[in-house]
Amino acid sequence: MLGVSCMPLPSECAAPVETISSTVLGDSLDDLQREVEAAFPFSESLSAATACVFGEGDPNSSLVFVGEAPGADEDRQGRPFVGPAGRKLDEIIKAMGLEREEVYICNVLKARPPGNRNPLPDEVAQATPWLYEQLRRIRPSVIVALGGPASKLLLQTHDGITRLRGHMGVWQDPEGDLEIPVMPTFHPAFLLRNYTAEVRGQMWQDMQAVMALLAH
Ligand code: URA
Repeated sequence: MLGVSCMPLPSECAAPVETISSTVLGDSLDDLQREVEAAFPFSESLSAATACVFGEGDPNSSLVFVGEAPGADEDRQGRPFVGPAGRKLDEIIKAMGLEREEVYICNVLKARPPGNRNPLPDEVAQATPWLYEQLRRIRPSVIVALGGPASKLLLQTHDGITRLRGHMGVWQDPEGDLEIPVMPTFHPAFLLRNYTAEVRGQMWQDMQAVMALLAH
């Protein structure tokens, strides 16, 4: 079992931040995946989920995409971003000159909320130490936060995605010195619902800023 303990929450934070006692874990990403899978289904409120969707991709990638939570397709396959939003994300990754296998893709929540409802604060609080530990073990150069929940959590703000997007921020590891640039941008599902020249242009602008940082 993961040893989790609560840290004090700054009042402006979007969700409580918990920490994992790393002494109980092996230190690879696979070890963490086994720990998280052992805790599945995580909570009563997520008990309708059929799979733990930990994340996938290159564990040494310099680029990590963080979404919100698995949907029905992801729950069925146990893999992140494999439905319509995933196909849009694949297109974005390709347009950046990368293959899906070259990046790492995960979500804040590791299990599907029933009916695709928004994650509850308790669910985010439980999943946060796992996401943070994932990021520590991958140590990417840049994180792309897809949509409001991931952006708010990683940047510890209540600001909405419309305000946040396009402004590079920083994820500060509450347990250490690690600081990783975060680009908050629209969720691909939002892009699918709002497929306008303006939204597409804004998202592409965000990805270009990410590519520029990766090129350094
Ligand atoms: N939406 C997400 O946020 N994550 C997925 O894995 C799929 C859809």
